[in-house]
Amino acid sequence: MLLSSLLWLSVLPFAPGTGAQNRDTPESHLVSLRGILEGPLAGWKAVFYLDPSLEAPVWEYVRGLLVGRNASYVLVDLGSDGALWSEEQPKELLRGNFMVHVVVFQNDPRPFFEAVSLQWNPQYLLFFSASNVTKNNLLLEDTFKGIERLLLVEKTYLTSSASRPVSGMFTSFPFEERKIKSIGIWSNTKFASKEDLFVDRFESFRGYEFQLGTWFDDFPYLHQSKTKPEGYGDGVEVEMLDAMARVLDFKYNFTTEPPDLKWGAFENGSWTGMLGMVHREEKNFTVNYFVITGERVDAFDASVSYWMEGFGMSMLSPPPLPKWRGTYYSFTPFVWLSLAVTFVLVLIIISIQDMLQPEPFLGGVGSTWPYLLRAMFNNSIPRLPKAHWQRLFVGSWWLYCFIVTTAYTANLIAFLTIPVFPGRIQTVQQLAESDYRVSMFDYGEFVPGALKSSRDPYYRALGEKLDLYPTYDGSVHPMLEGTHAYIESYSYNRILIFVDYEADNSYMLREQLYPGHLCWYFQKNTAWKYKFDHGIRRLVESGLIAHWIKVKTEDFLGRDFERRQQLQDKERLNQALSLEHLQGVFFILAMSWAAGVLVFAGEVLRHRCLLQELE
Ligand SMILES: *[C@@H]1O[C@H](CO)[C@@H](O)[C@H](O)[C@H]1NC(C)=O
Ligand SMILES: *[C@@H]1O[C@H](CO)[C@@H](O)[C@H](O)[C@H]1NC(C)=O
Ligand SMILES: *[C@@H]1O[C@H](CO)[C@@H](O)[C@H](O)[C@H]1NC(C)=O
Ligand SMILES: *[C@@H]1O[C@H](CO)[C@@H](O)[C@H](O)[C@H]1NC(C)=O
Ligand SMILES: *[C@@H]1O[C@H](CO)[C@@H](O)[C@H](O)[C@H]1NC(C)=O
Repeated sequence: MLLSSLLWLSVLPFAPGTGAQNRDTPESHLVSLRGILEGPLAGWKAVFYLDPSLEAPVWEYVRGLLVGRNASYVLVDLGSDGALWSEEQPKELLRGNFMVHVVVFQNDPRPFFEAVSLQWNPQYLLFFSASNVTKNNLLLEDTFKGIERLLLVEKTYLTSSASRPVSGMFTSFPFEERKIKSIGIWSNTKFASKEDLFVDRFESFRGYEFQLGTWFDDFPYLHQSKTKPEGYGDGVEVEMLDAMARVLDFKYNFTTEPPDLKWGAFENGSWTGMLGMVHREEKNFTVNYFVITGERVDAFDASVSYWMEGFGMSMLSPPPLPKWRGTYYSFTPFVWLSLAVTFVLVLIIISIQDMLQPEPFLGGVGSTWPYLLRAMFNNSIPRLPKAHWQRLFVGSWWLYCFIVTTAYTANLIAFLTIPVFPGRIQTVQQLAESDYRVSMFDYGEFVPGALKSSRDPYYRALGEKLDLYPTYDGSVHPMLEGTHAYIESYSYNRILIFVDYEADNSYMLREQLYPGHLCWYFQKNTAWKYKFDHGIRRLVESGLIAHWIKVKTEDFLGRDFERRQQLQDKERLNQALSLEHLQGVFFILAMSWAAGVLVFAGEVLRHRCLLQELE
């Protein structure tokens, strides 16, 4: 179990008691420590950092406290090497709210904490100072600026240094004018819970202006406002920021584009693009389209997710099949084949029947097939065979032809007016198996690399078919030519293709690549990030994000875009018959006439030959 693994005790150099001033009643300040540990912090798992230079009586007292403690705890020697220590600790111990961290010190504890790894960022950190002089400058130290809840307990003299000291409790409010404030004097009754002790230090940002590392190239999330001057953004993120800015009282300042014109990836050992600006601490956070990935979470603090989206692929719709081909779409090829086979069979049967007659009625195959075809083309049958059983056979043939022609005519009318589309590619697998290649604008996204090294065979196949282009025009053009599918984040792709390139005859594949949770990225160990988490969660739960995405997308695509798109796909609109539709039918007519002329010419020739023979 994790708990037992956490119970790791570092070997502490126990300083021998230097003075023999062991008083029987411990100092009141130390009693406060007992009160805190056995009051609001009772039962909480804790990490205790003990200063080896603590005076002997203090040592003894703290050890006594720890022995009586029944929740698991970890002891750390402040004199040891912080870097070494933090390296081998699990994340649960170093970060978050799993454990309360308590530092009991006499001398400056900073050297230890300056050395710990970037992963060290407890949510609750309590400094208990055994020193006679104030240490409250610790609360403003950069080393501890990433701690969400910070508390310092130290000896305070209320009026003059002559009076008895009390345990004053202090914390810092980085966004307020008076940064260090007392939250009271320890008493067993006033602080019942952990939250009373560790107050919210970021209730308001007091009008602070956050610097955002952003790029105005992110429809519909963040882009240059159409109505406001250069530098003013619009989009879903602006709505989110504005909504939270009113509650949390902050301002923000966008960057219109990152200096290196890259989106943000880990390349050659450093972060590029917008993430690079945040990582280098030039900017406070970024709000553009970024999905949560493990690599990024290791180097940044991610907010909670506000939306789920992946990379969409747009393609040109295949053109409808030529309209004249409607003449044979009425039946499937199998039905056409069956019809031909049936005809041949009937022809053979009726020829045999005819031969068996004492007096042949039709006389040879040459005149039998035109006789049978008459029924097919809705022509009347001039005379019927004399034998009853032969009549019965012709009758059933006639009925068969009646059904087939009726079905064909009815279906033909429908097929003449409704365009027939070949099946569309809708999934990654279909795209990977097709002859289409894929194109993408190379702006430093993770997708090309991830596709090429993917373990999914279809993703990898796309990676192998991927062509990267240095401009949007370059990458969209092959898609408009109908040779490529174009990859871009789903919403952006849709707006780019339908609005900027007005490619109305295109569509988005139903499946998305790398669907992921969108989030904001903050600098690693940002103490006040939880305020934004809370705000974003409220926006998500109230449905505002979904609403804004719809509204901002419709700003570009027009209202009811999706329904119109579906209608267009089906083309259920009534259509008049055009020449093109009738082409096929007249084609058949012309063919029949041509055949008729040929047969006629053949007959005339034959007649001539016969005449010559007679002469
Ligand atoms: C631990 O101590 C607290 C208070 O001191 C007490 O409420 C709790 O029951 C104890 N838990 C155990 C498992 O002894
Ligand atoms: C702190 O003050 C107390 C008396 O107020 C004194 O006994 C003690 O020696 C002082 N400690 C240091 C380190 O100055
Ligand atoms: C935003 O920041 C830029 C520099 O990063 C600065 O020039 C500009 O004045 C700021 N805008 C506002 C409104 O503060
Ligand atoms: C990474 O380093 C290689 C070689 O040092 C260089 O060719 C390449 O351009 C670098 N890539 C980036 C994005 O800086
Ligand atoms: C925000 O970023 C600026 C640098 O652009 C930095 O000076 C400032 O301290 C940051 N603010 C906070 C609250 O971290």
